[in-house]
Amino acid sequence: MDYKKYIADKIDIEGVSKDELCELIALPPNTEMGDYALPCFKFAKVLRKSPVLIAEELKNSIMSNIIPMSDEVISEVSAVNGYLNFKIKKDGFVRATLDKILAEKEGFGASDIGKGKTVCLDYSSINIAKPFHIGHLSTTVLGGALYRIFNFLGYKAVGINHLGDYGTQFGKLISAYKRWGDKKTIEEGGIRALNELYVKFHQEAEVHPEYDDEARAYFKKIELGDEECLQLFHWFKELTLKDVQKIYDMLDIRFDSYAGESFYSDKMQPIVDELKEKGLLIESRGAQVVDLEEYGMAPCIILKSDGTSLYATRDMAAAQYRKNTYDFDKCLYVVAYQQNLHFKQFFKVLELMGKDWAKDLVHVAYGMVSLEEGTMSTRKGNVVFLEDVINKCIEKAYTIIDEKNPELENKTDVAQKVGVGAVIFGALYNNKIKDIVFSYDKVLNFDGETSVYVQYTCARANSVLQKGGIVTNYEIPELTAEEIELVKAIATFPETVETAAEKYEPSCIARFAVDVAQKFNKFYFNRKILAAEDEKTKNFRLALTNATLQALKNAFALLGIGIPEKM
Ligand code: ARG
Repeated sequence: MDYKKYIADKIDIEGVSKDELCELIALPPNTEMGDYALPCFKFAKVLRKSPVLIAEELKNSIMSNIIPMSDEVISEVSAVNGYLNFKIKKDGFVRATLDKILAEKEGFGASDIGKGKTVCLDYSSINIAKPFHIGHLSTTVLGGALYRIFNFLGYKAVGINHLGDYGTQFGKLISAYKRWGDKKTIEEGGIRALNELYVKFHQEAEVHPEYDDEARAYFKKIELGDEECLQLFHWFKELTLKDVQKIYDMLDIRFDSYAGESFYSDKMQPIVDELKEKGLLIESRGAQVVDLEEYGMAPCIILKSDGTSLYATRDMAAAQYRKNTYDFDKCLYVVAYQQNLHFKQFFKVLELMGKDWAKDLVHVAYGMVSLEEGTMSTRKGNVVFLEDVINKCIEKAYTIIDEKNPELENKTDVAQKVGVGAVIFGALYNNKIKDIVFSYDKVLNFDGETSVYVQYTCARANSVLQKGGIVTNYEIPELTAEEIELVKAIATFPETVETAAEKYEPSCIARFAVDVAQKFNKFYFNRKILAAEDEKTKNFRLALTNATLQALKNAFALLGIGIPEKM
């Protein structure tokens, strides 16, 4: 049952819809005052009354309509300092929440609000033959989480890996491979070996500038469809994708399309023609650009002076292609904030072209991730491979688990879930726009706001349930504060998932999990479950434990993090 809605239905304010009321109704941090509260400050201007008076009048009118003692849900209404507070009858609320979770199981929190709508998500979008480094962590796990979240809410999500597989770097690689490479080393070394070639090329080209000309010539050959060059290019691509698949498997990341930049090679001309037709292209220093001065931006370059396309040109062709192919309601680009200008520019150009769907393109920007050790540059070669970070986290997790519980079965499997979870959670826990400094100790802290803390809590719950059994029939006993707080927390899951989708912010779900885990632990340590006062209380507490575990499982499934049975 939706309590906010129930409460909103009892409130009448002229010109304010029930939906708006639902949005405004909040859960006060201090539950002494009430379980739900409507702040009345917003209405002061329209109603020309003080918030204090508004709250008071609303209370009086509600009290004349309902008798709290006999209302199904509401037990008390009060007006305090401009807030309209509601206390609700806990028994009904607790029963409704647990029943819902225990009946819906892995579907708890899902909905069909997205039914019939399509969301394209462009995420991870790695560059071929370049390291999959820690800088790709956020886009990969944020995108992966949003993909699952939208699906969970009934949308049709389309995951797209917009591969960076176009540009002179492939000419450089061919040049380097022909000069220094050999098949076996590359075959075995994958991305790392390719990256070494790339780094070597840059070092050598500093003394041999003619290598750069050669590289450009090779790239031209790829574009013209030269068989040998194309073959090498496809081989580099294949090796890269095979290499990154290991990481995608570990992180539970999936895509529906790998159409990368080169896919749009033959799809840009119509865009260029349309821009010309609409009089949007002007010449600037030999290049073809769209002037965006009026909008406070540098011009968007469409074609270089030699007639070649740019990143933005390919993105425009990609956006049009996605609209034609998927007819999306929204198309999200999960890309670092460094590319803010790029997205603003090409979104604007599409808008100027009269494409009304340009408003549905969203740059979901996020902050930088760096390791404590320092930053990196692909060209110089001192790069932090994501695979190394994940493996190191798994190793460290193993050491900690082995120390804490040497007898544990499946330690390797547990360490895998804990280590990978820590990497994902570390990237997802904070508001996405924040820069993060990744620290192994922090993400693997058993007592911190971490995935391992949540996983450990789940193991605790699992162990209780294993001993006490799964309860389906229960009655509501005299409720304790710990129990009410816990039920209130897990009950927010459905709206938390919706907020995460609305704000493109999986961190809401990560925070939900930590909050629930903390409240469960408080309940666990303050109240006896298996040795409860009586059978009725024990049964209820087992049902509550089961519901809590289910809510945490559902939250972690959306984030792509596994939960070990035992730890
Ligand atoms: N490959 C690019 C990079 O690593 C990201 C591509 C993002 N997606 C897009 N449609 N531009 O910087």
